[in-house]
Amino acid sequence: MKIVIVGTGYVGLVTGTCFAEVGIEVVCVDIDQKKIDNLKNGILPIYEPGLEEMVERNVKKGRLKFSTDLSQSIVDAEVAFIAVGTPPGEDGSADLKYVLAVATAIGQSMKNDIVVVTKSTVPVGTSLKVKKALQEELGKRNASLTAYVSSNPEFLKEGAAIDDFMKPDRIVVGIDAPQAEETMRKLYKPFLLNGHPIFFMDIPSAEMTKYAANSMLATKISFMNDIANLCEIVGADVNLVRKGIGSDARIGNKFIYPGVGYGGSCFPKDVKALIKTAKQNGYDMRVLSAVEDVNDDQKYVLVKKVNKYFNNDLKGKKFGVWGLSFKPKTDDMREAPSLVIIPELLKAGASVIAYDPVAMHEASHTLKDTITYAQDPLEVLEGIDGLLIVTEWSEFRSPDFDVVKSKMKGKAIFDGRNIYDPKEMKTLGFDYYCIGLKA
Ligand code: UGA
Repeated sequence: MKIVIVGTGYVGLVTGTCFAEVGIEVVCVDIDQKKIDNLKNGILPIYEPGLEEMVERNVKKGRLKFSTDLSQSIVDAEVAFIAVGTPPGEDGSADLKYVLAVATAIGQSMKNDIVVVTKSTVPVGTSLKVKKALQEELGKRNASLTAYVSSNPEFLKEGAAIDDFMKPDRIVVGIDAPQAEETMRKLYKPFLLNGHPIFFMDIPSAEMTKYAANSMLATKISFMNDIANLCEIVGADVNLVRKGIGSDARIGNKFIYPGVGYGGSCFPKDVKALIKTAKQNGYDMRVLSAVEDVNDDQKYVLVKKVNKYFNNDLKGKKFGVWGLSFKPKTDDMREAPSLVIIPELLKAGASVIAYDPVAMHEASHTLKDTITYAQDPLEVLEGIDGLLIVTEWSEFRSPDFDVVKSKMKGKAIFDGRNIYDPKEMKTLGFDYYCIGLKA
């Protein structure tokens, strides 16, 4: 079986590489010549654990190819995935111009019947637009070809994307023709072997499933952040509460960790987009609006604790920051809480030195030279008044606290990810502040 993936961003590249891994012939197409040249030389545009080796392996086996030529790549392909970006427009809704441009290009260049699959996260109704664009082009060509459409949302977590793809909780496929179902079932067969389910449904339901999933997860997080903040006020411990509620299977113990707010390229964008879709259809998503408000505020929680500790006087203080990316195992800085926290400290007249295992280069595009970038976690500590933990990279989890103490000038640690035990930190002589835990 041969397939084409258009768009070699995060989703397209992971998708194409994982399909190649199970023996499917994949051509990843992108209009960006430099990106394609780099990929041919094994240089990836993103960091994702395990991906580089997988790309290399499949390129060597000849199952994974990269090209800028859609027209040539699409010959004999049974499926074409659209995996290009949908950046939020000024009003918060997803901008579909890249998705529809690809649909048009496929309509212009397809040589045989094909299933065109929307993989990018797109608002309900987009696949219909894709279908219209395809049919328009086929009409112009007077071609007696059929382009079936399908919506196949992705549920990949950055940092765990390969595992999520190879061992999916579920595969959701929206279709509007039996031919499309048959092709998609054949394509995904290698991933269903160990009982991983595939759900076929109508296209709007598949499109909605993606937004509902991310919005539900964002809701869990904002809810827990609210609970954690309240725990602090009433003298409860959110870790105990989390365990107490998480053991109820109806609630579940995942995605109920409080912190400094959710970030990344998905939750903030998808929550906004769903609120917007609802509004356009005359409906008010009240819960989701609150989810967004809570998250915006949560990004300031750590700075509020810092201000309280230093009596609102941060002028001339020096702070260390451990972790910049929006979560561990990625260099992704999109909507990262660190991009709210650090500017707040700087605005108040403090200076900042930061370390992140992989995201410093990415972070420097936004933070530029407003902060100092350290070579390692220990360098961050030299003479600082306080340490802020913003991303829970495993290398921050068990430092030698004697060394930490000896290097720091102050003794305050503000932990936005609850990675230490408050009692132990107190015994060690730190002033330790975290999110909703009891000392
Ligand atoms: C998210 C979803 O988890 C994926 O299923 C989905 O496919 C993806 O979006 C997408 O739409 O492409 P991702 O953005 O990579 O994946 O990151 P998550 O691991 O979901 O984390 C999102 C944010 O929530 C992070 O900032 C993380 O720190 C925060 N979070 C997560 C918490 O604050 N608490 C938790 O308990 C879990």
